[in-house]
Amino acid sequence: MTTPTHPRILLIVGGGIAAYKACELVRLIRKGGGSVTCVLTDGGAQFVTAMTLAALSENPVHTTLWDLKNEVEMGHIQLSREADLVVVCPATADLMARMAAGIADDLATTLLLATDKPVLAVPAMNMRMWQHAATVRNVATLRGMGVTVLEPDEGAMACGEYGPGRLPEPPAIWDAIRAMTGRDPLAAQPDFALADHRPLYGRHVLVTAGPTHEPIDPVRYIANRSSGKQGFAIAAAAADAGARVTLVAGPVNLPTPPGVERVDVETAREMAAAVDAALPADVAVMVAAVADWRAAEDAPHKLKKDGSGQVPPLALAENPDILATLARSPRRPRLLIGFAAETQEVVTHGQAKRLRKGADWIVANDVSGTVMGGADNAVHIVTAAGVESLPEMPKDRVAAALVERIVHALV
Ligand code: C5P
Repeated sequence: MTTPTHPRILLIVGGGIAAYKACELVRLIRKGGGSVTCVLTDGGAQFVTAMTLAALSENPVHTTLWDLKNEVEMGHIQLSREADLVVVCPATADLMARMAAGIADDLATTLLLATDKPVLAVPAMNMRMWQHAATVRNVATLRGMGVTVLEPDEGAMACGEYGPGRLPEPPAIWDAIRAMTGRDPLAAQPDFALADHRPLYGRHVLVTAGPTHEPIDPVRYIANRSSGKQGFAIAAAAADAGARVTLVAGPVNLPTPPGVERVDVETAREMAAAVDAALPADVAVMVAAVADWRAAEDAPHKLKKDGSGQVPPLALAENPDILATLARSPRRPRLLIGFAAETQEVVTHGQAKRLRKGADWIVANDVSGTVMGGADNAVHIVTAAGVESLPEMPKDRVAAALVERIVHALV
């Protein structure tokens, strides 16, 4: 596996108003040291010209399958294979539908079918089109086929409506391109070499992350200090390795990693239901710091001080143990991984937890310092075979190391 130092991008510009942002993306790729060859669809040509893209990319722009001269000098097969990454931006509802169906009736769809390179689709469309069952199905199909589909941004649209469907800003798209081509500084590390050959292609990886919030009344809740960073990093690393990833996230303030399907939940019981709905999965990595207890009663109105000096009693009820339930379930994933946040005797507690919960592995970490919310983590991977202790490192390096071990466990 070689990590390209100057990624070669084949950029397919689809027909939507967001096509003008593809011009900005070409500039960013060039500025970042990459090269770009553009393919302009008939629809794309209604919004930007081949001349603009040729001038910005300093490369010829391809527009038709029936260009005989190019079929001799630069056939569509060659065009689809000379790149390190194929980027579809904007990916319209129509273009994604045709990709999902395997239609090859123009240059863009033909080379998407012919390529053996990773594909990144960057959707942009009206929010109702994005939320339509047909598009939801097509996006799921594409992800299942190994295409990385970014989540669109939410906001005001050219059509005057407000919601999800805006093209992500070009710097965010460039970040995703760098992550997929190993251009991120961390991606150059051996553990991140996974990004290029997608060994988890065809697998479904389920990750839980973040805290849960357990309401006491409409304004108060029980929470913990989990930031979700470790779980989000694992979801990102699994997606980079080609997996279809479902990330069930508690309330956190983190962007969804590229190519990851995210389900937001608040309480442990919602998380348990979302995990159940996401099954079957080949691998589940339960990183969430699920609250052990919830308030036995969620008061419908804000609890008030009555001036008597009496504090209201707070009765607790036990939450479902999502990991232990999954371990006993007939739909148990083949590889089930739990996390153990401990403040003392980290490995001993990790070993006991592995047996008690029925997980295959427990990733045990010491949270007595600044691990919760911090950028770094030092973990011990406890398996039936023994304990592997990794040195302290950034959470995304921990994620890559774990995904590498998942890959080996599945083959
Ligand atoms: O028992 P403890 O909370 O330390 O166990 C941690 C592991 O169990 C983590 O993987 C966490 O996601 C999972 N867990 C769970 N449901 C709970 C409590 C913990 O899935 N109610």
